[in-house]
Formats: sequence, structure tokens, C-alpha cells
Amino acid sequence: MNQVNFVSSFNIMVLSDDQKLAVQLEAYLKPFGYMVTVSGNALEGLDQIRANRPDLVLADIALTPLTGFELCRSIKQDPGLKNTPVILVAGNYSDVDQKVKALSVDADDIIYRPVHGGELRARLRASLRLKAYVQQVLSERQRLEEMVSKRTREIEEMTVGLVAALEKASSLNDDDTGNHIQRVCLYSAVLAQGLGMEAEQVERIRLYASLHDVGKVGLPDSILKKTGKLTEEEHKQMQAHTLLGHELLVTAHAAPEAQSIALYHHEWYDGSGYPTGLSADAIPIEARIVCLADVYDALTSDRCYRDAVNPSEAARMIVDDSNSHFDPTVINVFMRNHSHFLAIRNRYKNRGVKATAFRPGLHG
Ligand SMILES: [Fe+2]
Ligand SMILES: [Fe+2]
Repeated sequence: MNQVNFVSSFNIMVLSDDQKLAVQLEAYLKPFGYMVTVSGNALEGLDQIRANRPDLVLADIALTPLTGFELCRSIKQDPGLKNTPVILVAGNYSDVDQKVKALSVDADDIIYRPVHGGELRARLRASLRLKAYVQQVLSERQRLEEMVSKRTREIEEMTVGLVAALEKASSLNDDDTGNHIQRVCLYSAVLAQGLGMEAEQVERIRLYASLHDVGKVGLPDSILKKTGKLTEEEHKQMQAHTLLGHELLVTAHAAPEAQSIALYHHEWYDGSGYPTGLSADAIPIEARIVCLADVYDALTSDRCYRDAVNPSEAARMIVDDSNSHFDPTVINVFMRNHSHFLAIRNRYKNRGVKATAFRPGLHG
């Protein structure tokens, strides 16, 4: 750690209703370059401390209407002030209770009357130096945290980018598929938000919903692009896209939510889905969300094997599947936010080409 650049032009707030003491403290500090503000009232002084953020507080323990101890506790409990050093001025060196009390309110130091100017300045310098180190450590920690979260975000974006490239390379990503993924991501974000999730978690689900069918890159075109009914064997292979996607994302060290979404987005709330047959809350919430978003989009989009269902009919079908296919809590959020779904659907319309390369949701 670099040496802290220590200068003496600090703002010191002196609190004492003993005018003689206040004048004495001021006289010990001002000639040495310290800027001193004096207050004789603890409450007014506290307001000034909050407004002016002095570098250090020097408080008489015999203050009123708050004692120096109470004032110190207020400062240390205030998140914006807690790193401000507080030195208490006490009357009796041999009073151990005062020393104990000073420690219990997190005072940084305690000095005794009669105050010696040299000792006062030495203690002030020690407290200010410590504060400067603490600030340096805190800002370094903040810098590192920001760096870590930026790197994490970059890795997440890179994972999604790589998968998008993979999808493109395997010719899965025609225009309709692109819009399907976009809509499923946005529907999922609406549901996550409606469930009261933190903004960061909503964003992760929005991002990782795009990977729900990534396992389809491992399936042959003869299945993906088949216009007729799949044979039983082909259907089994199609279902394996959940396992393939999961494996791919585990290998890529993708986030746990991404892995869950790929693996469990075809599970049913009643346990009759695939690939594991998990039920109810045992299915990770992010997968229950993407499951509904994916099926809604599949229902309301034209497919090579059927025309789109209108949105209100799709909503009715989803509600009918409450407790069997879908989580009833997620359905409640969906119903409350159906207007948002309609707006997203309107904004990211398909281009009128029936998807042939894609069997999402109900048929995936
Ligand atoms: Fe799928
Ligand atoms: Fe899908």
C-alpha cells in the first residue's frame, strides 16, 4: 500500500459547551494549520457534522443535550459518517468507566483534561492517518469489486455471444428463431420482475433465457427441420436437447441459472415433464419462468405444423394448465402482466415466414 499523503489542513469540529475548553482546543489547533469549527450544542453540532463532513470530531463528554458518548454513537451509527474519527475529551484520567464507555461507543481515542497541546495534535494526527488508510483500503476494495463485477458481466456476455454464434453456425438461427429467443427473454424478464426478484436476478434470467434451446445445436437437421410428425425415436432425440444444452453450458462454466434453464425448461409443475420429472418448487424458478414464456411464444407463433393461436386463447390455455404444466404463482404474474406480453409480441413480430427449423415449447 502506498504511503498516505498526510497534510495538516484538516477540518476539525470541536464540540464543548465549556467555552474555556473550546477556546483552548481551538488555540492548540488553529496555529498548526487545522481549520476549526466550534459548537456548544450537541444537536446543532451533529447537524453541522452531517452537513459539513469534518475530517475529525473532538467532543467533550460533558456535552448537552446529548453527552459526548451519545454524540459519538450517533456518528458511528450513521453510514455516511461512521469512518469519521471521534476523539472524546474526558475530565478524569483515573475514571475507568469513562474509558470503557468510550470504547463501547466506538470512539477512536480519549484524551483527558488538562489537555496538553502537543499530545492533542499527536493523537489527532494518529487518528487522521488511520482514517486515511481506512479510506484507501475501502476505495481499493470498491475498485476491485467493480472490476470483478465488470469481468463477470463480460464473461456472461461472452458465453451468450459464443452460444449465439454456435446457433448461427448450425443454421438454427433464422429470423423467426431470433425473434422467438428475443421474445422469450423479454417475457421471462417480465415474469421474474413480477415475481419480485432483484433487478440483477431479473437481468440474469433475461440474459440466460436466450440459451434455453442451445442443446438443439447437437441435433441433426433431419429432426430440426422435419415438417411432418416426429417418430418416437426422433421425439426422444428432440427431448435430449435439454441434456445436451446442460452439458454444453456446464462445459462452458456458464452460470447456474443458465444451466438450470437449459436442463429444466420442459419440466412440468406436476412432475410429468422431461428430462428428470422434477415437480413443483423442486424445479428451479428460472426454469419455471422460461417454461411458461417459451410455451406462450410457441402457442402465439405460426409453426410449420399449425397456425398461431390468438393471445387471449393462448392465455386461457395456459391458465387451464395451472398446476399441471405451469407453476400457478408464475401464471398469476403472467395474467397480471399479459399486456406487457402483447406489447413485446407486437414489437418483435415474426416476418411471416413459418418457422421450419424450430420446435419450441410444447413440441420441443
Ligand atoms: Fe426446449
Ligand atoms: Fe424455445
